[in-house]
Amino acid sequence: MSGLEVNKILASIILALIVVKVIGHISDFIVDVDNTEIQQTAYKIEVPESVNDVSGSDSKEEVTEPISLLLASASVDKGQKNFKKCSACHTYNKEGANKVGPNLWNLINSPKAKVEGFAYSKELAEFGGRWGYEELAQFLYKPKEYIKGTKMNFGGLKKVQDRADLVLFLREQSDSPAPLP
Ligand code: HEC
Repeated sequence: MSGLEVNKILASIILALIVVKVIGHISDFIVDVDNTEIQQTAYKIEVPESVNDVSGSDSKEEVTEPISLLLASASVDKGQKNFKKCSACHTYNKEGANKVGPNLWNLINSPKAKVEGFAYSKELAEFGGRWGYEELAQFLYKPKEYIKGTKMNFGGLKKVQDRADLVLFLREQSDSPAPLP
């Protein structure tokens, strides 16, 4: 009889081990399922983040406060004074030398990165397009945001009136100034 009881005890121990193992597998399985659910929620959260990108481009609209309406009343004299902030690196006269930055003669409506013999950054050289009034004003607002990777080390002109004055001044630095927008 005692032999039988020992067998029973052994059998129940083995059964208990099996049950523990099986439960372990089942819980692994359940945890796995939870994980995939969590991952799915993580993806679901990423979708509204692209909505945030849209609000990010809202802040770009602040950046592009246009100068066009101000150009008619902007001041070339004030623009020339503002150019002092640029003159450490730029000349604006015809056939003026390149300094740290390229010469800026005949800039408005000209292709970007057009100055022969100036070593532009890859980012500006490949940016494409022309320096229209608004494009130039946007660039001058925050150069490093407008052309990421530009080597123009200048923080930017925060006041829209300053940008309008300076762009109007630069417009004059040409044999045939571009028509006002
Ligand atoms: C610290 C030097 C520095 C200052 C200050 C600076 N620039 Fe520049 N600028 C550069 C350099 C360098 C480049 C070339 C950038 C590149 O290749 O990425 C450049 C490029 C430019 C270009 C593009 C020209 C082209 O041929 O496409 C314009 C326009 C310009 N600067 C205007 C200005 C104006 C206007 C100011 C003053 C408000 C100014 N910069 C202040 C160094 C400077």
